[in-house]
Amino acid sequence: MAPTARVSTADTSGPDRGEVVFRRDEALFLGIKLHEKGCFDEAASVYRRILACAPDSPDSIDALHFLAVLCHQRDANDEALALVDRIVSLRPDLPDAHNNRGNVLKELGRPEEAEAAYRRAIALQPEHAAAHNNLGVVLQGLGRLEEAIEACRSAAALAPANPDFPYNLGNALRRHSRLPEAAEAYRKAVALLPGHAQARQGLARTLLQLGRHAEAAEMLEQWLEAEPGDPVAQHLFAAYGGRAAPARAPDAYVRQVFDEMAESFDAHLSGLGYRAPELVAEALAGVLRGASGLLRVLDAGCGTGLCGPSLRPHAECLTGVDLSARMLTKAARRGVYDELVEGELTAFLGQRPAAFDVIASADTLCYFGDLGPVFRCAAAALRPGGVFAFTLEYGGEELPAPGYRLHPHGRFSHSRRHVEQAVVAAGLTVGPISTAVLRTEGGQPVAGLVGVVKAQGGAPAPRNP
Ligand SMILES: C[S@@+](CC[C@H](N)C(=O)[O-])C[C@H]1O[C@@H](n2cnc3c(N)ncnc32)[C@H](O)[C@@H]1O
Repeated sequence: MAPTARVSTADTSGPDRGEVVFRRDEALFLGIKLHEKGCFDEAASVYRRILACAPDSPDSIDALHFLAVLCHQRDANDEALALVDRIVSLRPDLPDAHNNRGNVLKELGRPEEAEAAYRRAIALQPEHAAAHNNLGVVLQGLGRLEEAIEACRSAAALAPANPDFPYNLGNALRRHSRLPEAAEAYRKAVALLPGHAQARQGLARTLLQLGRHAEAAEMLEQWLEAEPGDPVAQHLFAAYGGRAAPARAPDAYVRQVFDEMAESFDAHLSGLGYRAPELVAEALAGVLRGASGLLRVLDAGCGTGLCGPSLRPHAECLTGVDLSARMLTKAARRGVYDELVEGELTAFLGQRPAAFDVIASADTLCYFGDLGPVFRCAAAALRPGGVFAFTLEYGGEELPAPGYRLHPHGRFSHSRRHVEQAVVAAGLTVGPISTAVLRTEGGQPVAGLVGVVKAQGGAPAPRNP
């Protein structure tokens, strides 16, 4: 049997049989080493023993700190918060403790309290660059972009060698439509760390939005030369028109874009008058006629779960599927889904034959070019008479064959003709496909299509009531 580790309360005590005894400072060192190696259970056990032996010693502050970090890494944020609260009550003068408390509160979906914690850290240590940066990120999530920009600028000025700070500044400026300044900030991040994939992506997308195509092309070519297999570079290069468009946005691209956006997604879209979830709900209300509460419903590309509340009343079981783990974390916090699956939509549908009465998909099929494969898989995943309601971006009927186009912003638009052909080819029945405004972008309305199609068979039937 492996020896157990025990932490001595005095520095001189000898080991019991089968037991290794450490001094507290050695124990902390051991805990950190285990933690670094990813042996989380063992590290947590060492930290807890230090805390049990000497709850108020200086080492216990460190043990509390590392245990809180460990809980945070394991997504056990309630426990992490209790630990950082204890640190703050023992040492209210430690700026790092308030900064960490802010990080945990942010993860717990309590951004206003996180803001207060970061501000406390900054009040104690005005040059705390990480706290300024974290404050900027949380303010972005709250949609307070002017303040976010100011906080990110302070972080970048205080720690000019850190590439993440100008990157976050670039994000805030871009969301505020201050595109030339955003490009400059992203460039700074890329100059500090040429392999910073997110900053490169931000820069490429901003240059494309600005219409600075030559610069964007040059930057994308350099990127692809350095990393020919990078899916984000490939997709953006295709979006810019530099190579043939893929059949759908690569999974790695989607994951990266939405993991990065997850925190600020809801605030960002509400500022753009985002209506896709509402349009899908209205389209479904027309065919489901009331909430039976007995249907098996899939939210396809559920994101942060904005469709969840309107789908829940129809559902005996509500499943969400999405490629982005961070979007799913936000969706889980709504507490309306029975099941959340991290995965690619087409593959997921292929694994669930005749599983759903309703599939709802708001603002997700615009990441697909050819709609044939996803409609075929949806047809197989629907029960007889099941319905599939979705939104798409409308590209008009003038779009040349095959009836869809990849745009510099990285999404596809479709013609109604392509949608209808893909629906029929999948063996689904074409229902109403209307036009609507999905949201605004750069002050301009984004034209959309809202469709409801049906699987062959009767009306969607409740499962074994
Ligand atoms: C613009 S968001 C919309 C989210 C949500 N439906 C809403 O209306 O708020 C698009 C979502 O689709 C997901 N997505 C895009 N392509 C996907 C795919 N092939 N498989 C699974 N999820 C995908 C993204 O990760 C993202 O969360």
